Amino acid sequence: MPNFQVSDQGEKLPNLDYTPEVEKAVRPIYERLSQVIPEVEWPVFAPYVKAINEVKREKNAVILAHNYMTPEIFHGVADIVGDSLALAKEAAETDADVIVLAGVHFMAETAKILNPEKVVLIPDQRAGCSLAESMTGADVRRLRAEYPGVPVVSYVNTPADVKAETDVCCTSSNALHVVESLGVDRVLLLPDEYLAQNVARQTDVEILAWRGRCEVHERFSADEIKSYRASDPNLTVLAHPECSPEVLEASDFAGSTSGMIKFVQEKRPARVVMLTECSMSDNVAAELPDVDFVRPCNLCPHMKRITLPRILDSLVYGHGEVNVPTEMAVRARRSVERMLEIGAPPEGRLAWNLTGTGQDVALVGGVARSFA
Ligand code: 13P
Ligand code: SF4
Repeated sequence: MPNFQVSDQGEKLPNLDYTPEVEKAVRPIYERLSQVIPEVEWPVFAPYVKAINEVKREKNAVILAHNYMTPEIFHGVADIVGDSLALAKEAAETDADVIVLAGVHFMAETAKILNPEKVVLIPDQRAGCSLAESMTGADVRRLRAEYPGVPVVSYVNTPADVKAETDVCCTSSNALHVVESLGVDRVLLLPDEYLAQNVARQTDVEILAWRGRCEVHERFSADEIKSYRASDPNLTVLAHPECSPEVLEASDFAGSTSGMIKFVQEKRPARVVMLTECSMSDNVAAELPDVDFVRPCNLCPHMKRITLPRILDSLVYGHGEVNVPTEMAVRARRSVERMLEIGAPPEGRLAWNLTGTGQDVALVGGVARSFA
């Protein structure tokens, strides 16, 4: 059976029938996914999984996938999976010719900023982020004029024009570490209000923040946690630092997406709830059938734009190429590289302190845009 069909225009298109050959080729992958994908659904995914893995090899492409990708992407076609920091690091180091970023647009832009000479593809250009959309480079320039000399630390969840105006980037893995590494007593930490509050609780550095929110994490509340605990006192609650300080305070652990995964892999709690995007629990559950995941999660509509058909389309036709104007990319690259030079915090400081008593933040701009 040929692996490719030829279209009327003479293009080679992957064969997407669920044949015995396809079934056999991707059976080992399905074995890893059988906990979370019903057997009856696999014939829809299997031909894409096989085709994507083949086209990827032909084109010397690498698929970098965020922890929020659905299990058939995360376990089926990704070469590297991780949180935003890990994806940025891998993007800086890959020797592939083509990078497909299975995640959201700012992640693909970060990969392009670090690899101006490579082709970087995002399978759906509309995969945005409420934090990245909450501010522009012009906002940062205005803040710099208002607060001269105060260093600007931007979350990687920002567009390239914000990174270009930034001194150093950070992620949920290293925000406190980056802020404290600057050796100053005041920073602008943009644009996530909650992340900034969670950092401010753990440091003496004065934090000036922007009123940006993650539309997924702002929906979780401390009351919700109370009601889960009331019905199961042994439940372990994990939260992402884009949640409010009240949510972190009511949780047992907070960390980046990879930090949360690592916690579950190492501690093996009997029942756990991850207060973050839904696919995380499915991806970990596929590997750890002994852990019971309670799933009052929230979907990120932007991450969910990335699907197997769109990944294949992007790889075959080069759809969704990401470009950043050269001068902007050069300036943005400095702030991302400074973050990579500072690196991850020591192992013991990867977890967020849940009840820190540091100061509150001063909000210096941004529009409250609640999605709750
Ligand atoms: P991480 O860096 O923790 O993966 O977070 C990225 C993100 O977008 C969370 O909403
Ligand atoms: Fe952005 Fe929130 Fe979606 Fe992450 S989960 S990409 S921060 S909207």
